[in-house]
Amino acid sequence: MRPEERVRRTGIYAGTFSPFTIGHADIVSRALSIVDTVVILLAINPEKAPIEPSRKRKRAIEQIYSDEPRVIVEEWSGLVADYARQHPAPVLIRGLRQITDLSYEQGMANVHLEKFGLETCFLVTRPGLAYISSSVVRELSAAGVDTSEYIPGSSAKKAYP
Ligand code: COA
Repeated sequence: MRPEERVRRTGIYAGTFSPFTIGHADIVSRALSIVDTVVILLAINPEKAPIEPSRKRKRAIEQIYSDEPRVIVEEWSGLVADYARQHPAPVLIRGLRQITDLSYEQGMANVHLEKFGLETCFLVTRPGLAYISSSVVRELSAAGVDTSEYIPGSSAKKAYP
């Protein structure tokens, strides 16, 4: 098979990303060693009500990856599976922070596989980043604590003071 005939694989990394943290960024950079393109998909979790509109979150993430053409940021209000099926070789990317994430993730991965034929690739979060979550960053920030160390990229720090 000639290199140009190889199917280009798209990793779809969906989340609320309110805000996008260094834990998320680590998953994206590791996913880039597995797939050709990573789509960071700002999707809707019906149980969450992010403070910032998705347009603002999208802009902040785009600034982080302005020099990385293999990363695309998109907003999506439907099922992740419906977005993924628009791509020729999609694989869902998920980070696993701890064992308790697995039961929820296993259910989602099974639905995606059985119902939509979509595979999920799990990347285990580095131990040093596993304690970071968007809500922890939001809470610290709301209490006036400097959270810039958890937000990748200096321009993004402006979006999430
Ligand atoms: N490093 C740091 N933090 C991480 C992380 C990592 N590697 N991986 C996950 N997290 C954090 C997230 O920031 C989030 O933190 P928070 O709860 O404080 O906000 C938390 O772990 C949970 O992440 P996740 O499970 O990805 O939740 P989410 O709300 O960000 O995303 C969706 C959930 C949007 C992907 C999911 O609701 C969805 O797919 N919605 C679209 C509809 C759909 O297709 N549903 C599926 C039907 S089978």
